[in-house]
Formats: sequence, structure tokens, C-alpha cells
Amino acid sequence: MQPRQRRNLMVVAPCIVAIGIMCVLVAYSPTLYRMFCAATGLAGTTQRVADDLATVSKQTIRVAFDTSVAPGLPWRFDPDQNAVTVHLGEQKLVYFTAENLSDQSIVGHATFNVTPLRTGIYFNKIQCFCFTEERLDAHQKVDMPVVFYVDPAFGKDPDMRDIAQITLGYTFFRSADPKNARDLSRFLATNPPDPAYGRQFFNEQCTACHALDANKYGPKLGGVFGRRAGSAPGYDYSAALKKAGFAWSADSLNRWLADPRKFIPGVKMPVSVPDPIARRDIVAYLQQESEQRANAPKAKAAGRGSGS
Ligand code: HEC
Repeated sequence: MQPRQRRNLMVVAPCIVAIGIMCVLVAYSPTLYRMFCAATGLAGTTQRVADDLATVSKQTIRVAFDTSVAPGLPWRFDPDQNAVTVHLGEQKLVYFTAENLSDQSIVGHATFNVTPLRTGIYFNKIQCFCFTEERLDAHQKVDMPVVFYVDPAFGKDPDMRDIAQITLGYTFFRSADPKNARDLSRFLATNPPDPAYGRQFFNEQCTACHALDANKYGPKLGGVFGRRAGSAPGYDYSAALKKAGFAWSADSLNRWLADPRKFIPGVKMPVSVPDPIARRDIVAYLQQESEQRANAPKAKAAGRGSGS
């Protein structure tokens, strides 16, 4: 090979490799998109979630909201706020309002995206509506909560230095598969507490750290209703919770979940449930679970010999 040819090759070869890498990235980007779009709840490893949320950073970022409705869906769909400024690691509750403008009940589903795309890995949704089929009755209007936080690691990534705003965009489409739709009316504050939704929220937002029957990163929560705070056997509580000296009730659980570290300074649960309806349903679920647990031995005794 002539020296000139070799030099040309040294320039061209890295370009080919770079183009190859870009092709792979493009091919995989739908997968990446699905990965962060599908991740609801605190699904990451416990330690990561705990680290992410342990300290709220001083650094802030503006998060803007953008909504649209695809043709063929007679809904209005707007964010209640155009943008919010949040601290990195701060759990933020925002609302979107959807209204069915037609005379029939209609099922839609939402997809969402985060732009610039590369910020997606730092944008975490704890509670949201996404990809599920949602029914709105004729002329019904609901406020839908979304709880998110921006990972504090965002502030340390040099690639994010030039980013002044993250935009969360939602688009509602008319559903092609309305059979298994959930009712958006579950978001209405006028509904009675619903332990079934509470159980779902619990699975999404609590099981990273808690189980009903075993201590994990957090203490076991089966039968927590009426139990003295900081008293699950074998769990290493913070001093603050150990000496709290009350039994868990609907009221204290609600205040705890709204902001544990504000309710009892010095405790080590790093997450909260800013949405009051989710909180209400989680408390209803924990109450129901505790009551069933308390009644179970009696039921067993009563049913002795029945073989069940
Ligand atoms: C990232 C981990 C984490 C998540 C997620 C989490 N918790 Fe906790 N939770 C903890 C830790 C740690 C403690 C112990 C606090 C202490 O000792 O100060 C705790 C304590 C509690 C307690 C007090 C229990 C007792 O024995 O006194 C309750 C109640 C509770 N959590 C409910 C919840 C619920 C409900 C959720 C879901 C909405 C949740 N937690 C999500 C980590 C977590």
C-alpha cells in the first residue's frame, strides 16, 4: 500500500466505524425509548433509588410540558402548568387535565416522550399514566397526576451541561383496543378510597424497599395499621422513628406518606407520595390488609376442620 493510501485509510476507517455505531444507535432507539417509557414506579435497585432521593440537590432544572391529541379523538388534553422548576432529586407532582368533548364514552391511550432524548435516562416517573387504555365517559373531565424526579446524576454529567430545559410531551390517541380499558374516573377526588388501586400503587411505589412479610431495605408492612411506629422485629430503624411512640393510623400514615422526613425529622425513608389520591388509596389498602390479617386467625379457627 502506498503511504498516501494508508493515510486515507486511517481517515476513512474511523468514519466507517462511527457511522456503524450511529446506525446501531438508531436501530436500538425504539428499544431505549420503550425502556424509559415503560418504567413506572421505583423499579430501580433500592440502593439507587435511595441514593437518588437521599438528598435534594441545590441545582435546579426547568421541566416543561407539552400535550397533543391525535386526530380522531374528540378530547381536550392540557397540562395544568406549562413548566415547573425543580431541584434535582425532588419528587414533583404535576397534573394534566383530560376532557371528553363528545357524547359517548371513548377509550384513549397516551404515549410520552422526553426531549432532548438524551435526558431521558435521568427523567424518572414514579407515578404516571402511560400506554394503558383509559376510558373517559361522555363530557367527563379528570385531572391526571404525574409524579417524577430528575436524577441528581444529571447535574454531574458533562453532556447535560448545556441543557436548560427538559420537555415531557404526551400524546393521546384513540385506542384500537378498548376492551381492557381502565376508567380515568379513578382520578376523581370525589371517589371513595379504593384499596385495589392502593395495592397497585403499593406494588409500583413501595415494593422496591418494602414487602408485607419480610424486612427489606425498609421494614415489613403487613399488619402495619395499628402497629406501633418503629416496632417491626429485627429491623434496624432510625433513632427518630424508634422513639416516635404512636401507633399507625390513617391520619399518621397519610402524613408520613406526604413527606416522611417533614413529619418526623431524622427518619430514613427517602420517598414520598405527593399525590393525595394515591396516598388515600395506599392507606386504604394497608388498612384492609391489616384487618384481613387480624381476622385471619379467627377465620381459621372458625373454619377448623373444613379443610380449606
Ligand atoms: C427507597 C426505599 C423506600 C421506599 C420506596 C418506600 N419506603 Fe417506606 N421506609 C423506608 C425505610 C428505610 C423505612 C425506615 C425508616 C426509619 O427507620 O427511619 C421506611 C419506613 C416506612 C414505614 C414505617 C413502618 C414502621 O414499622 O414504623 C411505613 C408505614 C412506610 N415506610 C410506608 C411506605 C409506603 C406505603 C411506601 C410506598 C408508597 C414506602 N414506604 C416506600 C424505605 C422506603
